[in-house]
Amino acid sequence: MTKSRAKALITGASSGIGAAFARRFANDGYDLILIGRRENLLEELCKELTEENGINADYMLIDLGKENELKLAEARIRNSPNLEILVNNAGFGGESRSFHKVAIENHVNMVQVHNIATLKLTHAIIPGLLAKGKGVIINVSSLASFTPSPSAMYSATKVFLNYFSESLDFSLRDKGIKIQALCPGFTITDFHKKLGYGSDHPVYKRKFMTAEKVVGTSLKDLKKGKIYSIPGFRNKFLAFFARNLPRKLRITIYKKMFSKRKKR
Ligand SMILES: NC(=O)c1ccc[n+]([C@@H]2O[C@H](COP(=O)([O-])OP(=O)(O)OC[C@H]3O[C@@H](n4cnc5c(N)ncnc54)[C@H](OP(=O)(O)O)[C@@H]3O)[C@@H](O)[C@H]2O)c1
Repeated sequence: MTKSRAKALITGASSGIGAAFARRFANDGYDLILIGRRENLLEELCKELTEENGINADYMLIDLGKENELKLAEARIRNSPNLEILVNNAGFGGESRSFHKVAIENHVNMVQVHNIATLKLTHAIIPGLLAKGKGVIINVSSLASFTPSPSAMYSATKVFLNYFSESLDFSLRDKGIKIQALCPGFTITDFHKKLGYGSDHPVYKRKFMTAEKVVGTSLKDLKKGKIYSIPGFRNKFLAFFARNLPRKLRITIYKKMFSKRKKR
């Protein structure tokens, strides 16, 4: 009798960090359920991963910002007995304009995709993981979760993921379930392109990592049982600095940085 393979579900797998997670898990022999909205990319990736690794890769076209579509993903999780890994990765950047100048629907959509979807999918998977006595939940946060940022909602929704992950870890670690808040810095993906930044945008002067490197560090840190994974020495240093400087000094430095950026 053939043993059925363990499965991983990754949101936002059509490109970037999510697609890199999909490639790693496929390589490790997991079946996959990939979620996103760009069908051509998901279809191609599933085909590639199935052919190259002999696993089953399946995709769901779901807008996680829509409650009725999110429900389909929750149901899929509840009906997938072999599901052992959930990566809450789907996300997008916010506009750098003043908070009140951005349509309220855009802010609410960010909360829905980054936070509500994460907590609902996590809620759906935990009973199954507890029954197995093992499993992994990775919440893709950001280095921006340690700092205020020009897009008021981005840092706020990401810091939610940090504390959500830490709190879940309290109750689930001794039950065999590993939780991680992954906090990447600038990473080469479609993220900045979608914000409309052309190749001459000042952001590209920053040091970027590859999505593969981010995923490699995340999985190494998971093995070590680290609740926070911050890929890259420079990013670790920046996070340390952001977490440990007195708040007043930190805010003064950020204000200077952001006003410089506005002048460019
Ligand atoms: N790149 C960076 O510098 C960076 C740094 C720190 C943290 N992050 C975080 O990393 C995560 C992955 O982003 P990425 O950098 O890999 O960017 P990306 O290449 O743009 O990938 C984002 C993924 O999220 C999916 N997504 C976005 N909105 C969605 C929605 N409403 N419903 C379903 N799927 C949705 C996209 O799928 P579709 O477009 O197909 O819907 C895509 O697969 C995000 O949470 C982001 O905040 C990125």
